[in-house]
Amino acid sequence: MTKWSPGSWRSKPIQQVPSYQDKAALAEVEARMATYPPLVFAGEARKLKKQLAAVAEGQGFLLQGGDCAESFAEHGADNIRDFFRVFLQMAVVLTFAGAQPVVKVGRIAGQFAKPRSSDMEEKDGVSLPSYRGDIINGIDFTESARSPDPARQEMAYRQSAATLNLLRAFAQGGYANLENAHKWMVGFISGSPQGERYSALADRITETMDFMRAIGISAESHPSLRETDFYTSHEALLLGYEEALTRIDSTTGEWYATSGHMIWIGDRTRQPDHAHVEYCRGVKNPLGLKCGPTLDPDTLLRLLDVLNPQNEPGRMTLIARFGAEKASEHLPKLVRAVAREGRKVVWSCDPMHGNTISLNGYKTRPFDRILSEVQTFFDVHHSEGTHPGGIHVEMTGKNVTECTGGARAISADDLSDRYHTHCDPRLNADQALELAFLVAELLKKDAATNPEKRAVAG
Ligand code: TRP
Ligand code: MN
Repeated sequence: MTKWSPGSWRSKPIQQVPSYQDKAALAEVEARMATYPPLVFAGEARKLKKQLAAVAEGQGFLLQGGDCAESFAEHGADNIRDFFRVFLQMAVVLTFAGAQPVVKVGRIAGQFAKPRSSDMEEKDGVSLPSYRGDIINGIDFTESARSPDPARQEMAYRQSAATLNLLRAFAQGGYANLENAHKWMVGFISGSPQGERYSALADRITETMDFMRAIGISAESHPSLRETDFYTSHEALLLGYEEALTRIDSTTGEWYATSGHMIWIGDRTRQPDHAHVEYCRGVKNPLGLKCGPTLDPDTLLRLLDVLNPQNEPGRMTLIARFGAEKASEHLPKLVRAVAREGRKVVWSCDPMHGNTISLNGYKTRPFDRILSEVQTFFDVHHSEGTHPGGIHVEMTGKNVTECTGGARAISADDLSDRYHTHCDPRLNADQALELAFLVAELLKKDAATNPEKRAVAG
């Protein structure tokens, strides 16, 4: 293999590149960003890798979720807080009801670039470049909005820094204290069936905390009760941006992507000899790899060779995204090949991207198909004797109507009420919680049949 450098991807074939008109302006932005402070610290990425390594060994569960695409327009404290609340609720449901330590990774603070199925979008006879995410161009269907603008990369960097700052404060500054489990309830779900179910669980946590305090274990004396490790992740799609934020960690002398703790490679850009794989192989962060229906076992093994030649546990998370109908056909052969070759990976289930349909002119995802793919994922791992290690979801803390179904039965006609996503349809808070309760049950069942998976200290 040729020598790696943060820019060695530039000599490889590449998919999904925006066509910037002003190359000099692009180079200028990238050069400036290369002087900016890193968003995350290498030691944090290593800590995440360690936690994922435990999941790869069958201990614990990865919860990864957030917007399909973050947007500049929706950058506000309320949005971040509401997302974080629902995320904490999901995490606590999985930890308490599922009795597993949960590794918490947001699709946030950097999730701005989107792969598209065609370069151009056609509307009423007008053809303009497709929207590729706010880090590249604007969503409005006008020529000026749709031209890729390098200055957007600096906006994305600053938004990521501000978002990360608030998330760190929430995670470490007391908001995530288990004593607050009741306060994470988002207003509009408090009266719903999921809200009530959550309330009952929060009651039990409160009772447990009271008991522990009585015997001398309190949040004041035990940081693990009042703090949580929350990590960020995004698809490493816009490689110029990633390269600018790639830094040598002074304590180990190794390269890290400092744009987020974990980065992943999309299903459309995972060609083993192309640019995105080339970039990712050289940084030491935990990596995700999206696995769709066109990925065959040999290519997957080859990708693991390139991306994780030392077979280091925690390095690779394989994110299966087949669709409810296809999962039982495609997942077993990949799981089997990986197990046969003794590759240490976390298997995670993305039940969103393979289940997108069109209804009344809206892109949507039926909630029952999302649940069905998760169920299949657990079934397959159960029969293969492997660990169902995580879920990867697109979700928001807002009361949106983007996915149909769920306990509140959003119908095709409801989609127009509050359809706000910049890209793919997300689970709303109710649906996200409902999914967490289902996964907690599946996890419990899985642990019951594998006693060595019972919770260890988290
Ligand atoms: N520190 C533990 C953990 O992160 C317990 C914990 C504290 C927790 N706050 C939390 C768990 C919020 C879930 C959600 O797992
Ligand atoms: Mn998406």
